[in-house]
Amino acid sequence: MIPTLYWEKDAVMILDQRKLPGRTVFIPCRDMRRVIYCIQTLATRGAPAIGVAAAMGLALAAQAIRVKDPARFRARFRERAEVMRAARPTAVNLSWAVDRCLALLDVGPDNVETLKAMLRRESQIMLDEDVAINRAMGRFGAELVPDGATVLTHCNAGSLATGGYGTALGVVYAAREAGKQVAVIADETRPLLQGARLTAWEMVLEGIPVRVAVDGAVGAIMSKGLVDLAVVGADRIAMNGDVANKIGTFNVALQAQRHGVPFYVAAPLSTIDPNAASGADIPIEERDPREVLELAGKRIAPSGAQALNFAFDVTPHDLVAAIITEKGVLRPPFTQSLGKAKAAA
Ligand code: MRU
Repeated sequence: MIPTLYWEKDAVMILDQRKLPGRTVFIPCRDMRRVIYCIQTLATRGAPAIGVAAAMGLALAAQAIRVKDPARFRARFRERAEVMRAARPTAVNLSWAVDRCLALLDVGPDNVETLKAMLRRESQIMLDEDVAINRAMGRFGAELVPDGATVLTHCNAGSLATGGYGTALGVVYAAREAGKQVAVIADETRPLLQGARLTAWEMVLEGIPVRVAVDGAVGAIMSKGLVDLAVVGADRIAMNGDVANKIGTFNVALQAQRHGVPFYVAAPLSTIDPNAASGADIPIEERDPREVLELAGKRIAPSGAQALNFAFDVTPHDLVAAIITEKGVLRPPFTQSLGKAKAAA
């Protein structure tokens, strides 16, 4: 699998996902602003990948702080951390990663150079841990995938959206590694086409049969009996099991309920937000109207028309059959199962 992001000497190399599937280009980031640019423009995207990118960006920020006094270093680092936290609002992994770096700062020694080295090491640990978590999640999720199954997924929750291997697509990979035949239907995922461009690309690279469908076809496809299960990722999960994920996920879940197709969410425990009691507490990103009003840079809607461009929606917990995590498959009632899993984490 092609790496999503990695350290190369003093630079964070970020795969520019805007160019996929046509070109494989890495953006060298030597300062935090460049990393934020990559996060905001979706050069790198997907909740776990955003978290790792944030940690790497903060390690770059730390490196650039030229003071020797630990107290002043900590104060400046905290300012940078809040800038990073604001890069994108919905994926809680971003805030989670920032808090993890800040916690390290609190327990670290009073030596600025050591703190800088610790922050860089922590970002690499977070990357490695993410891959291990995704593999564990995949193994639990694979048990829910029957041999010969067709899995419908929305957006891209694959290797590209994480440090590697993926969450929803990790389930697909693990099912195949367990010897099962699996095929995928990828919703194209308007407006930025993460399904058509990224999920389909990953599937083709991995030799997994994939068909791309327009988002509006979900109901028709399910009514024809073409889908055995739906598996998606998540940007933030509230403690009652409400799930924020790419816009259109709610529609998939509704159609799944209508057609008796199990709807699963695969996400690490870091995506569960202990501060969100329900979906109403999850901030939903609104993006540039041009993403909707234009196609490949060309205006498709008449001038004068405006756009609604919510990047995410919230799927109510009663539509979710289970949440697949690295610690096991969590079932309703989610208030209990998520609470227990978070408390043990
Ligand atoms: O806007 P994006 O591309 O960052 O949105 C990504 C998604 O919605 C993913 O499904 C989610 O982050 C889970 S990634 C494992």
